[in-house]
Amino acid sequence: MLHAVEIIRKKRDAAELTPEEIHFLIRGATDGSIADYQLAAFLMAVVWRGMTAAELTALTDAMLHSGQMLDLSALRGSKVDKHSTGGVGDKTSLVIAPVVAAAGLDVPLGRKRVFVPMISGRGLGHTGGTLDKLESIPGFNVNLSLAAFRSILEKAGCALMGQTPEIAPADKKLYALRDVTATVESPYLICASIMSKKLAEGIGALVLDVKTGGGAFMKKQDEAEYLAELMVDAGKRMGKKVIALITGMDQPLGRKVGNALEVDECLDILHGGGPPDLRELCGELAAWMFVLGDRAANLDEGRALAAEMIASGRARDTFREIIRMQGGDPEIVDDPGRLPRAKNLAKVKSPRAGFVASIRCEQIGIASMVLGGGREKKEDAIDPAVGLVIERKVGESVDAGSTLCTVHYNSSARLSNAMDLLANSFTVADTPPEPEPLPLIRKVIGA
Ligand code: URA
Repeated sequence: MLHAVEIIRKKRDAAELTPEEIHFLIRGATDGSIADYQLAAFLMAVVWRGMTAAELTALTDAMLHSGQMLDLSALRGSKVDKHSTGGVGDKTSLVIAPVVAAAGLDVPLGRKRVFVPMISGRGLGHTGGTLDKLESIPGFNVNLSLAAFRSILEKAGCALMGQTPEIAPADKKLYALRDVTATVESPYLICASIMSKKLAEGIGALVLDVKTGGGAFMKKQDEAEYLAELMVDAGKRMGKKVIALITGMDQPLGRKVGNALEVDECLDILHGGGPPDLRELCGELAAWMFVLGDRAANLDEGRALAAEMIASGRARDTFREIIRMQGGDPEIVDDPGRLPRAKNLAKVKSPRAGFVASIRCEQIGIASMVLGGGREKKEDAIDPAVGLVIERKVGESVDAGSTLCTVHYNSSARLSNAMDLLANSFTVADTPPEPEPLPLIRKVIGA
């Protein structure tokens, strides 16, 4: 007879757990027979002690089989998804999903249509979550039945939802606990979380965006590469095509941070504008999805296809369709003023003239969370309207008294806490930063 407390103790003392012990814990997490405090203690022990390759395989496998695996073999085409390890202003899914799905019409001979079945997460720690962003679209429903998910996927080429009691329920439980117990930052827990829900989706290929830098869970590039390798290996073990881009998260991606604000910025991209860093990363991730899904012969062709989907308006049409089919207000695509808006604005001003030398990216994410854009406790409600607009990014010049960041807020008490964080989030220097910031896309693993 296995006992949760003995398993926790064993992990705490750095002994290797057996697959049976790991499966027992994950079964208990899924059916509620192991208490949250015991699961939280186990998670903390993993953060400290790490996992062997055999333990990680057992954990990913147990979480994957905590629910069903979608069988999408009846859909004719490739099924490809993308997932990020989490960042600040990290909103690429909302652009990539419609861009890739839009290329489903007029598929040339010898190429495949790519479907995007996307099971996403909520905000975690200081990072935002795709589900919270989608829910800022009035009416948008991320709690789909599997039948509805499949039907939307078939018709629109993409459907987006959260973990359900059927798909990766163990991750749903552990993800919410990790968010509020400081147990996110473990490559093993991140790998098992991401790969269990992604492998349950019935995909053949996966593009991972592994973030590194001050606003990522993996602060150093070698840690991000280690995580990327764990995930690529886990995917390949299951016979999937997986690649990981290592991308910079030393400052927010794009300029907007906060749920509705980020949807708004994605609409800018889908309308052919938007900030260059966000545009670049979306184009690159979409291109890889086209290549892994056999829709494009090579990356250049994939990039051109992604650009064409935006320029022709087909990605916008697809996004409108996905929103409509998931119960949301499709008119936000052409009228973003219909998205929730905060009642008040405040400004963070530069104390001096110069150039933005650095931004404390994690602190920006925490400020957005404190405003109500994320959760401090797992039952907290999200305020979809609040967040930040970064008016000056690294390397940009500022005048004394000009605005570094605009704060969108609804509660003065929350504003005051956020302002305390924002006051020292920007460093302004006399000269532009030297050396030049590293490129956004640092490396590809698994290609
Ligand atoms: N995204 C996930 O789905 N899980 C994690 O643990 C981190 C990012």
